[in-house]
Amino acid sequence: MSARYSGLIERYRDRLPVTPSTRIVSLCEGNTPLIKLENIARKRGRGCEIYVKFEGLNPTGSFKDRGMTMAVTQAVSEGAQAIICASTGNTSASAAAYAARAGIRCFVLIPEGKIALGKLAQAMIQGSVVIQIKGNFDDGMRIVKEMADVAPVTIVNSINPYRLQGQKTAAFEIVDALGRAPDYHCIPVGNAGNISAYWTGFSEYAGVKPATAACAWCDDQCKFERPAVTDSRPVMLGYQAAGSAPFIAGHPIELPETVATAIRIGNPQSWDLAWAAARESGGEFKSMTDEEILKIQRELAEQEGIFCEPASAIALGGALRDIESGRIKEGSVVTCTLTGHGLKDPDTAIKQSAGGVIEIPAESDAVKRAILDHL
Ligand code: F0G
Repeated sequence: MSARYSGLIERYRDRLPVTPSTRIVSLCEGNTPLIKLENIARKRGRGCEIYVKFEGLNPTGSFKDRGMTMAVTQAVSEGAQAIICASTGNTSASAAAYAARAGIRCFVLIPEGKIALGKLAQAMIQGSVVIQIKGNFDDGMRIVKEMADVAPVTIVNSINPYRLQGQKTAAFEIVDALGRAPDYHCIPVGNAGNISAYWTGFSEYAGVKPATAACAWCDDQCKFERPAVTDSRPVMLGYQAAGSAPFIAGHPIELPETVATAIRIGNPQSWDLAWAAARESGGEFKSMTDEEILKIQRELAEQEGIFCEPASAIALGGALRDIESGRIKEGSVVTCTLTGHGLKDPDTAIKQSAGGVIEIPAESDAVKRAILDHL
C-alpha cells in the first residue's frame, strides 16, 4: 500500500458517506498540523497547553476544503453539472478549486467590496463564474437557496450536510494527534457550520450521538455506532466579531460589520446546530472587538511565526481571554482552530503593520545603521 497521503476521505473513509465505487474529488486536503504554542503559552497560558489547528495549510488555504471534497464528491456522484455558493470568500475559493478538479461549473455569489483580495483571486483564476451582488453574505445565501429551486445547481454552502461531514474530520485529527480529546475547543463562528461539524466529530469519536446531529445523512446511515476512540468531549467555545454577533444578541443582525470579513454574517444558517453544540458541551458564545482581533492576529504572527487571517485569530484571542478570566481552567488542554491563512487578506495585514518598512538608500552604511538600530 502506498504511504502517500491522499486526502481526508481516504483517511476517514469508514466514517464518511462514500462507497468503494465512489469517485473521490480530492486535492489532498486535511492532515493539517496541530501546532503547540510556545512563546504565547509561556507568557499567558497559566499552565495550559495551547494548540492551534492551522487550517490555513489546506490546499486553498482554509478549512473549507474539508467540506468541499465531500460535498463535491457527493454532487458529482449524483450527476451534478454545476455547483453554487454564497461566500465571504473562502467557500468560493474552495468551491472553485474542487469544481475545477471535478470538471464541473461553479457559480459564486460574493458581497460587493467585502471580500479579501486573495480569495477573490482564487475564485477568479480557478475558473468559477464570480457574481458580485450589491448586498452582503446573508443576501447571497437567500438568493442561492432560491436558485437551487430554479436552476440545475447543487448548493455547496454548509447547509449541504455533506460539507459538515467532511469538516468533522478536523476534530478526528485533533484527537488522533493528541491521543485524547482537548478540554476546551475554541473556534470562530460565522455561518456556524464549522462549530457544528467539530461537535459532530468530537461526539462521534467519543461514541456519543449529539442530541441534534449535524447531518441529515446520518439519520439513515448513522456512523455514531462506530467504536469510540476517546472517552471525553471538549467544552465548545465559539467566538464572533462584536459587530457581527447574532449568537450574542440572540437574534439575526441586519447589517453585520467587522474587519474579519470572513465572519461578517448576520443570519447564520446552522443556528440550531451551533446552539446545540454550545449547550451540550457546556460551552458558550462570546464576542471580540475588531481591535482585539487584529491585535491577536499580529501577536500570533510576531511571537509564534503563524500568520492566519483575522477571522481565525479570534479563536486564540478568545481562548487567551478565557484563560485569563478563569473561564478556561488552569492547566487545561486547549485547542483553537485557525480557519484560514493570513495570505488570504494581505491588505489588512499590511494596513495594520503601517510603518513596518524602513526606507533607506541602497548603501551598506545605511543598511548597517538600520540593523544596529534594531538589534
Ligand atoms: N473563519 C474563516 C476564515 C471563514 O472563512 C469562515 C466562514 C469562518 C471562520 C466561519 O465558519 O461559517 O462555519 O461558522 N466563511 C464562509 C465563507 C462563510 O463564505 O467563506 P462558519
